[in-house]
Amino acid sequence: MKKITKAVFPVAGMGSRFLPATKVSPKEMMPIVDKPLIQYAVEEAVAAGITDMVFITGRNKRAIEDHFDKAYELEAELAMRGKEELLRMVREVTPSHINCIYIRQTEPLGLGHAVLCAKPVVQDEPFAVILADDLIDGEPPAIRQMVDVFQRHQCSILGVQNVPREQTGQYGIVSCDPLETGIERVNAIVEKPRPEQAPSTLAVVGRYILTPRIFHHLEKVQAGAGGEIQLTDGIAALMREEQMLAYRFGGTRYDCGSKLGYLQATVALGLKHPEVREGFAAYLNSLK
Ligand code: G1P
Repeated sequence: MKKITKAVFPVAGMGSRFLPATKVSPKEMMPIVDKPLIQYAVEEAVAAGITDMVFITGRNKRAIEDHFDKAYELEAELAMRGKEELLRMVREVTPSHINCIYIRQTEPLGLGHAVLCAKPVVQDEPFAVILADDLIDGEPPAIRQMVDVFQRHQCSILGVQNVPREQTGQYGIVSCDPLETGIERVNAIVEKPRPEQAPSTLAVVGRYILTPRIFHHLEKVQAGAGGEIQLTDGIAALMREEQMLAYRFGGTRYDCGSKLGYLQATVALGLKHPEVREGFAAYLNSLK
């Protein structure tokens, strides 16, 4: 029985949809209430028992490394001022049993290429891929649910969700045969099809468990949609050799790569945040 101990976080993207906010700071560091997006993603992996966090970074992404590093001066200052609660919060960003590994993707050649950059670390093990842009508020967290499905099926799994047909051009879209409740067998996958060409409206949304055989295929994949090496094309090739499942995870997903999704996540999580929820709810009510 294989176990999932590694998660890959592709974080080299430019974040052009959030310019000028992302001119010098990474989009993954944008906060939802008080935590950066990438921290939500790492916490999700930690909740799934994953210990090795592999970040595929690029230029202008140093803040991510600093965020998961020890902040000596800050911790010393908080300790000196007796701010125990804040100190605990800062230290908990990186639990001591977690390893953070950073690999540079020197050219923006696509998501498939970013995942391939993790090969020297992941080697011959199944692993998770988490796109921090897709914030999923789920209990248990989405990747935890998928790791549980992996324990039973020992094969690649794609986290999927139904989307409106007019949005298929933003996603990898799968076509499936039923297997069991919430789990289907993928028989085709296509990257960003036009609505009239999409085989279904079931979209892959930022959570993957992949077997290491994916690297073999990503090494051979040619540039596809948008001129990029697409993870979807690697998955399509892998699917012809190995069982590939689609899993409809439980939870609400926010597309934090878009301004609207980002604002929706901020409102939803603001209304759950113990410190501000009452005041925020009262404020929103006052706007009606
Ligand atoms: C990427 C993938 C796509 C997937 C999406 C999920 O697209 O290429 O298959 O459905 O993430 O958010 P991107 O959003 O990077 O264009």
